[in-house]
Amino acid sequence: MSSTAIESDDFRAVMSRFATGVCVATSRDAAGNPVGMTINSFNSVSLDPPLILWTVGRQAPEYEAFCQASGYVIHILRDTESALSTHFATPSDDKFAGQDFDLSAMPKMKNPWLMLECTAEQSFAAADHNILVGRVTAIENNSGDESALLYYSSGYRSVGKPIG
Ligand SMILES: Cc1cc2nc3c(=O)[nH]c(=O)nc-3n(C[C@H](O)[C@H](O)[C@H](O)COP(=O)(O)O)c2cc1C
Repeated sequence: MSSTAIESDDFRAVMSRFATGVCVATSRDAAGNPVGMTINSFNSVSLDPPLILWTVGRQAPEYEAFCQASGYVIHILRDTESALSTHFATPSDDKFAGQDFDLSAMPKMKNPWLMLECTAEQSFAAADHNILVGRVTAIENNSGDESALLYYSSGYRSVGKPIG
């Protein structure tokens, strides 16, 4: 099979079978307005120092804000929070209206499952996205017995049974 002319539908179909967690990234734009968007491109990079990465698409309404921000907060969602994921993936004039966020400083969920506060470390242009690398400066871990929200085959799932 040729690797030189990959159809975008074929690429999407393959990548949609790569199961991921789901996060909401938040920050503030240059005017100080809170911004937030759903992402699943999040991953860890380095333990020492603690670095993470994610990618933001140029078409995203929040693209400029996140590329210019000095920091952002990553909220890893529970399997009960698919509606929150859909909400933050849908363009809106005020995504935070009616949502349970503390907006006194950097926008943060009031009852996060897992939350990482980051300072912006590096940003790399990569075609139609930017790769953002952040340094983790604070974490909140309320994982308990709850389980992660997964995104797989263009839909939401919960974690299945353990294997082995
Ligand atoms: C599960 C899920 C994961 C997403 N992951 C990303 C991501 O990692 N990076 C990104 O730029 N947009 C991602 N998006 C899209 C944005 O959240 C958002 O839908 C989009 O930027 C809205 O603008 P548009 O509808 O004009 O494209 C994701 C959406 C969903 C539903």
